[in-house]
This record gives sequence, structure tokens and C-alpha cells, in this order.
Amino acid sequence: MEKFVINGGQPLRGEVTVSGAKNAALAIIPAAILSHDVCRIENVPTSISDVSFMIKTLKHIGAGVRLIDRSTIEIDSRFVNSYVISHDMTKYLRASYYFIGALLGRFHRARVAMPGGCYLGPRPIDQHIKGFEALGAKVTIEDNAIVEATANELIGNPIYLDVVSVGATVNIMLAAARAQGMTVIENAAKEPHIVDLANFLNSMGADIRGAGTDVIKIKGVENLHGCTYSIIPDQIEAGTFMVAAAATRGDVLIKNIIPKHLESISSKLIECGAEIEEFDEEIRVSMNRRPGKCNIKTMPHPGFPTDMQPQMAVLLALAEGTSIVSESIWSNRFRYTEQLLRMGASITVDGQLAVIHGVEALRGAPVRADDLRAGAAMIIAGLAASGKTEIEDILYIDRGYENVVEKFGNLGGDIRRVYCVEPFSKDSAG
Ligand code: EPZ
Repeated sequence: MEKFVINGGQPLRGEVTVSGAKNAALAIIPAAILSHDVCRIENVPTSISDVSFMIKTLKHIGAGVRLIDRSTIEIDSRFVNSYVISHDMTKYLRASYYFIGALLGRFHRARVAMPGGCYLGPRPIDQHIKGFEALGAKVTIEDNAIVEATANELIGNPIYLDVVSVGATVNIMLAAARAQGMTVIENAAKEPHIVDLANFLNSMGADIRGAGTDVIKIKGVENLHGCTYSIIPDQIEAGTFMVAAAATRGDVLIKNIIPKHLESISSKLIECGAEIEEFDEEIRVSMNRRPGKCNIKTMPHPGFPTDMQPQMAVLLALAEGTSIVSESIWSNRFRYTEQLLRMGASITVDGQLAVIHGVEALRGAPVRADDLRAGAAMIIAGLAASGKTEIEDILYIDRGYENVVEKFGNLGGDIRRVYCVEPFSKDSAG
């Protein structure tokens, strides 16, 4: 078992380079199997465990995957020979369900175990299924455990999503890229990684328009070819460093970013009193006083991202005044507040609302990473707090943040990864 040990209280200062976007990579990697060719993908966060799982799964179905350098992979999809993905491959990773769309697109058949991933509340896949069915697939779910989708032919059709879903939008794009005729997704998700997936598929010869708006038109093509493509920078990793800079009252230049993707985060930080300077591919965040309060409501893009909600709550926990955070995407994304209470925060949660009464300082404590972004919030809290914070269950953090110790360490954060012996659990006792 590993944990992070943080000695907090130092402002973060210096420069940090953001990795490629996890959620774009998780859609683009399975998309590569829609070609019978070789795709070279750059700016891939290869050392996060979610990407390792994706690569393992690709190999399992017969793809060749070569690591060209730390952030470039080559996927050879010529010999992909299986449409079956077992529970072993999907249990840790939500995005494993993108193989349903990709395999359906390639083989007109997919048999994929239900996905695992961070628990943020119920995560239904009804909109994915609705999309596959609209394209002519027959979809069954066996024992609540395996999704089987088959189609004689995939035929383009209009699909209206009842909820704005990133996953369903991605999965339908994957299945529709090689369908016959035109698929129109209405009420589609508009996140930067949706646009990135469309650009990747178009580089492979697909015909997709409108990504980034709520109507995406996909004119199916018969074949896709290999390409070289570079993934966009990670909006949420960048946002995490932005909030960490502000919460520790530091001054950080964050490199390899797209400022447009960070607008909702920047504007909330400015509201809290941070200074922000934007450059072409960099953003500088500094804060030299106690943050002010602000209210946040998470929304699909271009609204404030739910994946930044826990990190931002740490800043608000230190703010002057009372802030209200309203979570509108996930029904169970405030579990981390219990950990912040241990550090001296004053937060009350009522359903989808958290009321945060800012305190002057947080103090280090033993805490847990409940999920990926909750874990990022614990790092920020530990760095901003006085004294020692120990974070357990860091495997969640390793799912989505590359070289996190090195990156925060280079900014002057005192954070170490330590190995510890697993406690003697009740389960193992006699
Ligand atoms: C993606 O999850 C991200 N994951 C999540 O990032 C992120 O929190 C989420 O989008 C929202 O931005 C990846 O990209 C791999 P959704 P996804 O489908 O696709 C409901 C992180 O920390 N819904 O957009 O699973 C659903 O319950 C993570 O990086 C249905 O009702 O999210 C939720 O309330 C965790 N039926 C809302 O839509 C469906 O069929 C949005 O979910 C699908 C979704």
C-alpha cells in the first residue's frame, strides 16, 4: 500500500507543464481500433493507470501497442481479433465502455463487461444504449454484468440525448463513424475532449461536424485510416494546479494549456481574488491574500466542471465568508467533505448543496482519497494546511494525475510517496 505524506504550509511557486488530457486519451485510444491501420498518438499521459488499463485492454483484443517515448504511443489495429472484453479488464475503469462503441463500429458486435470506475453516485448507461439501438444494434445486458451489442448493419439516425452525457456522446460517435448514412446527435456534450475525439476521427478520414456544439453530425464512411494525432492538454489537471496555486497563496505558471478551456475556472478564481495572466499556451495564477467567497454550480461544458468541484471547495474552505457549492451532475460527489472536516474545515452538506463557512487555516490530518478528484482536493488541502497530512487510497489519484509528486515537488510542495505495510484487516483475521 502507498500513501502520500505532505508537510504543508508553503506557497507553491514556479512552473509546471500539464500532461495530455486523460478523458480525451480514454476516448481516443479505443477509437484507434476503428481503422485497420496504425495510429500514432502524441501527448498521451502514459503513466496514469487509467491509460495503462486502456492499453492493456487493447493488447488483450489483439492490437499492437508500442511506447515510442514517454508521451507517444503507436497503436497497430490491423490484427484486432476479438470483440469480447471481460470483467478483469473493465472493473477499474469507467471508460472501458468506450470499447462497446468502438467494437460495434469495427465488428458490428461487442461483448463487454459493465464498467467500474470512481463511485460518484449511480452511473447509468441508458443513453449509450439508446444511441446504439438508434443505429440498429440489438443490445442486451446479461445478469447486470455484461453488455452484448450486435447489428447486421449500423445505419445513421437522429438521436436526442435525454441528458447531456460525455460518455454517451463519445460512444455514439465511435459506433456511428463507420455507419451507413448520417447520424445526428442532439443535446450532445460539448466538452473539449468531445472536440478532440472528433478531430482525431476526422484525421482518420471520418466526416464529423459540429463537435463542440450541441448538435453533432456524423456522416458514416466505409473505412478509416491511420494517422498521427496529438491529444489536447488536460483541462482538469491544469485547473487543479490553478486552484493549488491560489489555495497555497502562491504564484505558478502553468504550461501546455488552452486558456479557452479554463475560462470557467479562471473566472471563479478571479471572483475569489486570484490574479490571472493568460498567454497563448500558458496561464499564470497568483494569490497574495486570503481568498474571498464565491458560489459554484457545476454544469456540463462550458459551465464549471464537476471534476473541479472538490478542488475548488478546498479554496472556499479557506475563504473569507460563506460559499455555496451546488453539484448538478453527480448525486454523490461530496464524500470528500468529511475528510476536509478532519482538517478543520467547516462544511455542511445537504443533498446536492454544500455550504462552506471559510476558516482561516486548515491543519494537517490523516485523510483518504475517496475518488480521483477528491484525492486531488486532499493534495491541495494538505499543501495549504499547516503540519502533516497523510493521504490513503492514492491509487485513485494515480488513475488520473501524471507524476503528481514530481510536479508538486518542483513547485516547492513537500509531498512524498511512501510505502507502508497494509494494516491487519478484519477480513484477514481468522
Ligand atoms: C465523464 O464521465 C468523465 N469521465 C467524468 O470524469 C466526468 O465527471 C463526467 O464526464 C462529467 O463531466 C470520462 O470522460 C472518462 P456523463 P461520464 O455520461 O461520461 C447521467 C474524472 O474525474 N447519465 O457525462 O460517465 C449521469 O448519471 C471523471 O475524470 C445518464 O443518466 O459522465 C450523470 O448524472 C469522473 N445516463 C450525467 O448524465 C447515461 O446513459 C453526466 O454523465 C449516461 C449518463
